Amino acid sequence: MNEPRYALITGASSGIGAAFADLAVAKGFGVGLVARRAERLEALAARLRAQGAEADVFPADLSRAGAAEALAADIAARRPRVDMLINNAGATIVQNYAGANFADHRAFLELTIVTPAALTHALLPGMLERRWGRIINVSSIAALSSGAKGNTLYPAGKSFLLKFSQSLNAEVKARGVFVTAVLPGFVSTEFQAANAIPMEENGAARRFAQSAAEVAQESWVRNDKGHEIVVPGAPPKIAAALMRALPEPLMRALTRRAAEKYYVGD
Ligand SMILES: NC(=O)c1ccc[n+]([C@@H]2O[C@H](COP(=O)([O-])OP(=O)(O)OC[C@H]3O[C@@H](n4cnc5c(N)ncnc54)[C@H](OP(=O)(O)O)[C@@H]3O)[C@@H](O)[C@H]2O)c1
Repeated sequence: MNEPRYALITGASSGIGAAFADLAVAKGFGVGLVARRAERLEALAARLRAQGAEADVFPADLSRAGAAEALAADIAARRPRVDMLINNAGATIVQNYAGANFADHRAFLELTIVTPAALTHALLPGMLERRWGRIINVSSIAALSSGAKGNTLYPAGKSFLLKFSQSLNAEVKARGVFVTAVLPGFVSTEFQAANAIPMEENGAARRFAQSAAEVAQESWVRNDKGHEIVVPGAPPKIAAALMRALPEPLMRALTRRAAEKYYVGD
């Protein structure tokens, strides 16, 4: 195959998504960059093109109903072949459930659940036809938690991505399409600032934080080996092992105590 492979990356305007874009280009892929902040995407695309890569910009608000279908149609018109899909765009709502507008909750569900499911549905047939495809769904270690006050839909939404990835991988892996759920712990990105998450300056989360590049690198390599679940980095791996092994009541008590300092109420 002479034509370079092509990766579509959502949430490419910062953090883990931008790191995936850099990595994809380093691996010889062309990239499609999706997020709301078009100027950020244009700047990244210009930098990647200067390295000789094909880079397209698809500005889109993926929390709007129908956004994924519109994006899929746009991509089909410009790039008939997408080999890799990285569903990475994400956000959270820190307020308690009753305190936030349902319109915001609905937007969270669109962004976290509907958009990844719809983009996957649009791009999977081509991957299956070519018998080669890679799908990475960026979930969170929160998918393993018992949930806590605030960010009410976040563990539920990220659990969807975990279970969706597993079921789909069972369906398509033998046909050359590898699906991976990535469950990062704390990563140093704009996520906390973008979502008004109160963070301690030197707390444990920051001390054990990973870089976006580390998360992208481990996720990419292990997705390509067919790993279904990736918890990037050593501290999150230990945390995930404990979260899976501890009896649920104990895990629930620990999670809730740890989450208390991030609770903002209404
Ligand atoms: N950072 C962490 O500690 C951590 C831990 C576990 C999991 N994660 C997950 O990792 C993923 C990437 O987050 P990050 O840490 O890299 O945070 P980030 O730097 O805030 O990046 C989030 C990306 O998602 C995009 N995005 C947000 N809302 C969007 C919308 N409505 N439509 C289109 N794009 C949207 C943002 O772009 P625009 O604002 O330009 O739209 C941005 O490119 C998320 O799914 C997050 O849940 C992060």
